[in-house]
Amino acid sequence: MAKYETPSDTQRNYHAAQLTFEANGDITWINPIAQEKWEVMMGWEQPIMEKMAEVCVNEGDHVLECGFGMGILATAVQARKPASHTICETHPQLQPKLAEFASNNPTVRAVNDRWLSLLDERGRYDVILMDTYADADLHPRFAYFVKRKTKHNGKVSWWNWSGGKTDPWMKFYWPDEHIVFHDVNINPPENQYYNRSVYHLPVYTAQIPSKGFGILESSVVQLSDGVTDHGGDPISTLPITRVHNESVVSCADPANPTLTDQTPVRGVTMDARGIYDINNGLLKVTGTHPMIVKRNGVWGEYKMNELVVGDMLYKRDNTEVEITSIDFDDSDDNKYIVSRLLIDHNYFVNDILIKEGGSSA
Ligand SMILES: C[S@@+](CC[C@H](N)C(=O)[O-])C[C@H]1O[C@@H](n2cnc3c(N)ncnc32)[C@H](O)[C@@H]1O
Repeated sequence: MAKYETPSDTQRNYHAAQLTFEANGDITWINPIAQEKWEVMMGWEQPIMEKMAEVCVNEGDHVLECGFGMGILATAVQARKPASHTICETHPQLQPKLAEFASNNPTVRAVNDRWLSLLDERGRYDVILMDTYADADLHPRFAYFVKRKTKHNGKVSWWNWSGGKTDPWMKFYWPDEHIVFHDVNINPPENQYYNRSVYHLPVYTAQIPSKGFGILESSVVQLSDGVTDHGGDPISTLPITRVHNESVVSCADPANPTLTDQTPVRGVTMDARGIYDINNGLLKVTGTHPMIVKRNGVWGEYKMNELVVGDMLYKRDNTEVEITSIDFDDSDDNKYIVSRLLIDHNYFVNDILIKEGGSSA
C-alpha cells in the first residue's frame, strides 16, 4: 500500500488494530489511545447505503466505491448493474472479504489500496461513493480527486457526519446549487458516531469545466468552388488548422440553402479535453461548440453536448444526414487539438454545416 504522507494516529492505530466482527456483523475495534471500543461500520446504516446506491447509480455506470466495510453499499451498487465497480479497501482484515465479494461479482475490481492511489490512473467515473474511516486523505484531497476522476455531471456522495446540511467543510466547499440532500429515516442503537433519527444523504453533481472548444484538427473545411492551389489545380478542402484569412470558404444557411463564398478572419487552434464523436468519425467536436441540426422538422442551434441520436445534420449538397451514434471520450490522457474559424457565417467541416461562433462555457 502506498504510504500516507500525513497519517493520523487514529488512522495508524486503526490499520494496525485487530478488528472485531460482532455477532450481528458490525465491525468494531479498540482504540488504544481512547481505550474504548469504536465502531467502524454498523448494520443500521443499511437504509442509508441503499439510498446512496439508488440515487447515484444507474445501470451501465462506471462506479468507484471507497471503503468496503461490511459490503452493504457494495451489494446495493451491484444490484443496480454497473458496467464496472472499483472498490478500494485498506484494512488487511477486510481485504480478503473484498476479494471474496469480487470473486462472486464479475464487474467488481478490488483495489487493496487507498482511493488516492487511483489518482493518476486513466479514465473518469460516472459515480464516486466515499465512505472511508480514519482517513487522513479525505479532507485535504477528495475535492481535487473528484475534479480529476469524475465525469461532468457525475454523481458523488459521501458520509455526512454533521447531522445537518450546512457545514461547508462537510460539503467540501462545493457550491450549494450542485448539492442535493436526500433524507433517510433511521433508528440507530446508541453508538460513537451518529445518534439521530434522520440522515441527510448528500449528492454532489460534479462540475468539470470543459477546456477549449472546436473541431478535431484532422477535419477538413469545404472551400468554395473554383479555388485552386498555386499550380492552378482545383482544391475542394483544406485541413481546418490550415484555413487562413485568404482562404475562400463555402458557407450556407439551411433555411436558405444557397452556397456563398466567405473568408474567415482567421482560424483558432487549441488543446481541448473531451470530444464527441458523431456517427463513428463523421465529425469530432467538443461539447460546447455550437451546431446546427434539424429536430422535429425545424432547424435550430444547439451545443454539441445537447445533440441526440435522431437529429439531422445539413450537408453541402443540400441533403441531410441523420445522427445515428454519439460517443464521448473524456479520458484525461486523450488531450485533443481542436480548431475553429473566426467567421461570420456557418461553414462546412467534413461536408457538414457547422455553426460559427460559440464559447467554451
Ligand atoms: C464505514 S466503512 C465502509 C462501509 C461500507 N460503505 C458498507 O456499506 O459496508 C469504512 C471502510 O473504509 C476503509 N478505509 C479506510 N481508509 C480508506 C482509504 N483511504 N481507502 C479505502 N478504504 C479505506 C476501512 O477499512 C473500512 O472498511
